[in-house]
Amino acid sequence: MKRIGVLTSGGDSPGMNAAVRAVVRKAIYQDIEVYGIYQGYNGLISGNIKKLELGSVGDIIHRGGTMLYTARCEEFKTKEGQQKGIEQLKKYGIEGLVVIGGDGSYQGAKALTKLGYPCVGVPGTIDNDIPGTEFTIGFDTALNTVIDAIDKIRDTATSHERTFIIEVMGRNAGDLALWSGLAGGAETILIPEDNYKMDDIVDRLKKGQERGKKHSIIIVAEGVMSGNEFAKQFTEATGMDTRVSVLGHIQRGGTPTASDRVLASRFGARAVELLMDGKGGRAVGIEKNKLVDYDIIEALGKQHEINLNMYKLSKELSI
Ligand code: F6P
Repeated sequence: MKRIGVLTSGGDSPGMNAAVRAVVRKAIYQDIEVYGIYQGYNGLISGNIKKLELGSVGDIIHRGGTMLYTARCEEFKTKEGQQKGIEQLKKYGIEGLVVIGGDGSYQGAKALTKLGYPCVGVPGTIDNDIPGTEFTIGFDTALNTVIDAIDKIRDTATSHERTFIIEVMGRNAGDLALWSGLAGGAETILIPEDNYKMDDIVDRLKKGQERGKKHSIIIVAEGVMSGNEFAKQFTEATGMDTRVSVLGHIQRGGTPTASDRVLASRFGARAVELLMDGKGGRAVGIEKNKLVDYDIIEALGKQHEINLNMYKLSKELSI
């Protein structure tokens, strides 16, 4: 393999730049040329493609977002869009592609794989919802952003003796809610992987109040419902006043943590190694701190699993 491409797609996540840097530097180290495909699959279709040099990825390891820009691309879901993408790759003589992104991006990589084009997926999303890896690039940074917010909200919740409802991202996965709720000492965590019972929530809250607890933090994963919707139900059930905080897109930005930078560097370099070994149609992941790779088509058929033991623990510790 003499020339590869790299793109970022879907929701950006902190650490994507570190992954792009690793792909570029590892490839050049191995005498492989690298082309950056800008604006995700949109740029692949339109041919927004430029050669990247060692210096193109200088000074980005610590930056959030993605220097390649990103997009959600409807056209690439169609056969025609995919064909246009393949034609661009051929035009530029790009023999293999690294796709950094989440579920939607992997669907694109899967489509290219089915068309016989060598593609390697690198999991980059704050949602941590990709099967076959314990962690995705950006999850740790987003988690720390959420915890920072919870800590701040806790100060005002305590001062005003209020119940706060904090809505966090995660799409259909509860990882960000669970990890931040556990690390932030939340009284209640609602995740899409479990059906919540309002009676239980109220019961726990009352027991806490009887012991003198005057404030409460409830984390709601967006995959369950909106924070405002839950607040309405909660007030109907308890008659209590609440405040809602929707953290939104700040969760996707910011300087990547050391952990995300290291993970991204390892993933990016391994993706290049796989392409060099002629292993297309793979996705990289991490399990028990070891890099793994797996069939991208098989993996997408699987379900990401949340750590239910941790969920149980969060309930035990927040009595
Ligand atoms: O997948 C990342 C993510 O931030 C999800 O957590 C969220 O549901 C979604 O993207 C928001 O997407 P957009 O930026 O298109 O509003």
